[in-house]
Amino acid sequence: MILLQICVLFLYFVSSHEEKVKLSRDGVRKFPDEFLFGTATASYQVEGAWDEDGKSENIWDHFTHTQPHLITDYSNGDIADDSYHLYKRDVEMMRELGLDFYRFSISWPRILPSGFADRVNEAGVAYYHNLIDEMLKYNIEPMVTLYHWDLPQRLQDLGGWTNPLIVDWFADYARVLFENLGDKVKYWITINEPAVVCYYGYGAGAFAPGVDASGIGEYLCAKNILLAHAKAFHIYNDEYKSKNGGIIGISYSAQWYEPASDSSVDIEAAEVQSQFEWGKYSHPIFSETGDFPDVMKEKIAAKSAEQGFPRSRLPEFTQEEIEYVRGSSDFFGLNHYTTFLVYRNESVYGVHPVPSFYDDMDTGSYQDPEWEGGESEAVKIVPWGFYKLLTEIRESYNNPPVYVTENGFATYIGLQDEGRVRYYREYLSALLDAIDEGCDVRAYTAWSLMDNFEWTKGYTQRFGLYEVDYESPERTRTPRKSAFVYKEVVRTRTLDLDYEPDTDVMTIDDGH
Ligand code: BGC
Repeated sequence: MILLQICVLFLYFVSSHEEKVKLSRDGVRKFPDEFLFGTATASYQVEGAWDEDGKSENIWDHFTHTQPHLITDYSNGDIADDSYHLYKRDVEMMRELGLDFYRFSISWPRILPSGFADRVNEAGVAYYHNLIDEMLKYNIEPMVTLYHWDLPQRLQDLGGWTNPLIVDWFADYARVLFENLGDKVKYWITINEPAVVCYYGYGAGAFAPGVDASGIGEYLCAKNILLAHAKAFHIYNDEYKSKNGGIIGISYSAQWYEPASDSSVDIEAAEVQSQFEWGKYSHPIFSETGDFPDVMKEKIAAKSAEQGFPRSRLPEFTQEEIEYVRGSSDFFGLNHYTTFLVYRNESVYGVHPVPSFYDDMDTGSYQDPEWEGGESEAVKIVPWGFYKLLTEIRESYNNPPVYVTENGFATYIGLQDEGRVRYYREYLSALLDAIDEGCDVRAYTAWSLMDNFEWTKGYTQRFGLYEVDYESPERTRTPRKSAFVYKEVVRTRTLDLDYEPDTDVMTIDDGH
């Protein structure tokens, strides 16, 4: 979720930002033979059935029920897309698209109603078995996220991700899933976007659980969530991998931060912002040295001292923890949406609360007004940023396998979603450019299979390849033009920029 990131200072530059790379975009281009295509959703955003069959309250149930005014349309995920009941239709859509895999997440309080592993809710486990079995019937691989933001409220009452004990609570939950679903699932993702969980949940407080502890909460969360991820990784690696043969990783939210000018100050500012925003979570796992990036440790320690804190607001890892976290991911899961231009400007100082994450960074960012946008104010079409980000990941981390686990664009209601079609074509083209240069990108996931509950934006922002009719009790799902375009990419394993689909009828053309 990146929409709030543009709430930082906005500067208007008279001359628009120039593309720094020239990408080859002609002709029909082929994806590598083993390349995988999928789409994604997340439990709270689609499942509904919020209190059915033994599921307990999660932090988003609590947040939306107690403070509905914080959601643009006062809505919630009580019913959402009703996938808890309509999962067979969801699998039918996967078949229509011809997907290799489908990424979905598991609701922790549906599996463990107390939050703890004292009692497993069999009805919850049965739901995920049914969904997975229906997918496997048609050779669609499940890619399962353990945590996509819907923490049991009972664990939040104990501090949630700021309580170091959550490392064990999460590991216990992970073990229950590996034990129950491990023989059917080959792709596991521990945490979706630790940066969003920590910053929006425990720093800015804009998302559930709404803890406003800027400059402190997100850093406590960052350390705990990395250790929790690593513990789940090691459990899988040590106890399940050889038996079940799957892989396990983490998914980052990483946008591209481009220097706003050629000045060394802005170049450094863009680097700092990248390290703060996503390097904070990728450096500990993918760098050779591990640990939080030096620039973060130094800046936060210096500011903390100036501000009179007896120690850095960024907690330290022990050497043992550094080693435990380093290398704890089989792939680099990448959720990427857009690009920002970054500058260093002393006037930023004092604009943000002190202490705060943004004050610690000393940077400002904005987007070029000429970049094309859709319904989400932050997601602009900037494919060269995707290319640069993939290149940066290759160069910084010794070319890890990258699974693009989210990429997508919001449009208004309507089936003729030309903006989304353009977005997907351009971003897939940039991805192919990166592969041509040697990036080891192995999978692509379109966010999202269908419209869904878009967090604080409710149902006002539509990211779906399929449109969902929230007025109909059946939550009718109808393919948009982009669904037909994506289907053709998946079917042909090629990108044809000129392909114009016939959007009359969506069929299932088996294999599936
Ligand atoms: C999140 C999704 C969200 C999407 C669009 C991603 O960062 O993982 O849950 O719907 O952004 O805002």
